[in-house]
Amino acid sequence: DKGGWSSFMAKEVSEEPEAVANTLRGRSHDGVVTIPELEGLDDLFAGINRVIIVACGTASYAGMTAKYAFEQWTRIPVEVELAHEFRYRDPVIGPSTLVVSISQSGETMDTLMAVKFAREGGAKTVSICNTQGATIPRESDAIVYTHAGPEVAVASTKAFVAQITALYLLALHVSQVRGSQSKLAIADALRELEAIPAKISQILEREQAHIEQFAGWMADTRSVLFLGRHVGYPIALEGALKLKEISYIHAEGFAAGELKHGPIALIEPGQPVFVIVPSPRESAEMHKKVVSSIQEIRARGARVIVVAEEGDAAVLPYADEVLRIPLAGRLYEPLLAVVPLHIFAMGLATAKGLDVDQPRNLAKSVTVE
Ligand code: M6R
Repeated sequence: DKGGWSSFMAKEVSEEPEAVANTLRGRSHDGVVTIPELEGLDDLFAGINRVIIVACGTASYAGMTAKYAFEQWTRIPVEVELAHEFRYRDPVIGPSTLVVSISQSGETMDTLMAVKFAREGGAKTVSICNTQGATIPRESDAIVYTHAGPEVAVASTKAFVAQITALYLLALHVSQVRGSQSKLAIADALRELEAIPAKISQILEREQAHIEQFAGWMADTRSVLFLGRHVGYPIALEGALKLKEISYIHAEGFAAGELKHGPIALIEPGQPVFVIVPSPRESAEMHKKVVSSIQEIRARGARVIVVAEEGDAAVLPYADEVLRIPLAGRLYEPLLAVVPLHIFAMGLATAKGLDVDQPRNLAKSVTVE
């Protein structure tokens, strides 16, 4: 039931705040992480020295996003690999490897095969899943469910923000068990996460109409590029995937630092480029670098659409459109920056008269390899 919304995707984007809030609910108390599903597994988490995150599509971008927080908080090296690539090489894994799988459906065959393969190789497995009782969690040593609620639209939206949230909780849990973060730092991280739902709601209230309107003006666009750095990089990839999937427009995401290494050759007058701008308060240096990337593409005629925090005036001289997100710590920015990109993809596909819930050639759950 679409509950009065024009599509399941519109409904599910509107549910992004709850998806985060429900995934957090009941999993912390007084600044301490308390994940009931992970009770009794302290030895498992104490005994690992490597984490490999496996997933496909949007779930893999949630993994790429969480890698930064996971490494920062736990000081365990984290790799992120597409499940189908991981499965068909000869990865070095063993009892001190933790393989974390991420899957909304819990039925993605590529991810399931990767988890089975990891277990056969002696690795420990945790799955992040949105569907109770699905196959992948049954194959894993532990499960952390995302509580995003059923996701019907083929394009994954609310599950993505819930996956990042669950991965952050898992990383905080692991750092708590291993003592790699102070109690204060863990309590601060939980506070930041708890503030996210209201901030997403703010974006939906303040920016949705504006984004849908300019997405409508862009209905004839043939290609859109997305740039981001650090945690903004996987968000750029996610923005591009969503656009390809439902609007059938060529889209690519790049790490902003790669521009000079090739992609800048694509820039010609009128080329739309989304840029995820990191907060200048959180990292002045990274902010400066991204602004200079913007200047470079602008000088070549790009039409620049920035996603930037409220009050960041440095982007104004070079931006054709500014999409504002509320202030948040650097690791939490992706949970906000992705929201305008979800709205944009949906707005553009709708303007083209396409079925946003059922894009051509795609299935919600890919149960074949
Ligand atoms: O159910 P899963 O999370 O395992 O699905 C993984 C991908 O197939 C999925 O995220 C896909 O990329 C989405 N359609 C993206 O919007």
